[in-house]
Amino acid sequence: MRARGETAAARLGLIGVAVLLTAMLAGCGSGALHPTGRGATDTADLFGIMAIGATLIWVLVIGLAIYGARARPVQDPEGLSRWLIVGGGIAFPAVVLGGLLTYALTMMADLRAPADGGLRISVTGEQWWWRVRYWSEGAERPVESANEVRLPAGRRVELELASADVIHSFWIAPLGGKVDMIPGRINRLVLEPTETGTFRGVCAEYCGTSHALMAFGVQVMEPDAFEAWLQREAETAAEPEQKTASAGRDAFLAAGCGACHTVRGTPATGVIGPDLTHVGRRLTLAAGILPNDVDAFVRWIAAAEEVKPGARMPAFGALGHEDLNAIAVYLESLQ
Ligand code: CUA
Repeated sequence: MRARGETAAARLGLIGVAVLLTAMLAGCGSGALHPTGRGATDTADLFGIMAIGATLIWVLVIGLAIYGARARPVQDPEGLSRWLIVGGGIAFPAVVLGGLLTYALTMMADLRAPADGGLRISVTGEQWWWRVRYWSEGAERPVESANEVRLPAGRRVELELASADVIHSFWIAPLGGKVDMIPGRINRLVLEPTETGTFRGVCAEYCGTSHALMAFGVQVMEPDAFEAWLQREAETAAEPEQKTASAGRDAFLAAGCGACHTVRGTPATGVIGPDLTHVGRRLTLAAGILPNDVDAFVRWIAAAEEVKPGARMPAFGALGHEDLNAIAVYLESLQ
């Protein structure tokens, strides 16, 4: 009997080690464990404390199991059981969970500290892309962009998160926690990036066919560089200088792209799809899934549905290679 008990305990121990190692390896390289923002750092610290605590408690329980399998029967088994239940089943969890709760509650105050003000960013999740608007204090209208979020380092910025259709979830793992985007309401998230760099944000809530193809680039910049970028982002689109780009603009307008897209400074004023005024200098195309170059533009315009199943962007393959290429060159020139 004793041998069987020991084998069972040992097997349990091995399974525990395997599960723990898998969980740790799965976390390797993921942004949440390499935080570069205040909220994410707090969360990572909490995770670290819980992981270490769980490991210690697990070692203790397995140790007790092995000891229980090997120990001789005691004289007063009921007394021992009562002690184990009261001590290990009530007192110990109450102390541990109470401590964790207190720690987490003190953390909440830090996470909920108000934004610095001066800049608000509203992000709306749509199937399957992100509408992004920068509201500077005193400005009459926002600066509209899409599929990327730029933030100044060292400042607490408030994000207003909304949805145009179904529930999405906004998550920049290295910077902060995920927050759902719920139709009909606005959820708020304050992010404070502590380092400059390029990150990837994702949609963390299943929202339909192309949920996994709904990402966005995140660029944390020095405050001065951010202000300069935002000022340029507010400008209207540059006139195409090159012949192909100019032909591309004509083809873009003739094909009716302006019914869905805006290119500020041109007759294209559609609001159904992403604003393309400065699309050429974005980090990615098609919401985080294609590189930003002429080939990717051609691929996307010719057959968006193949790149992103279910996307509302129609296929314009019938335009022919010359027009497609010209439109791609034009859009890429929108810096
Ligand atoms: Cu949007 Cu998943």
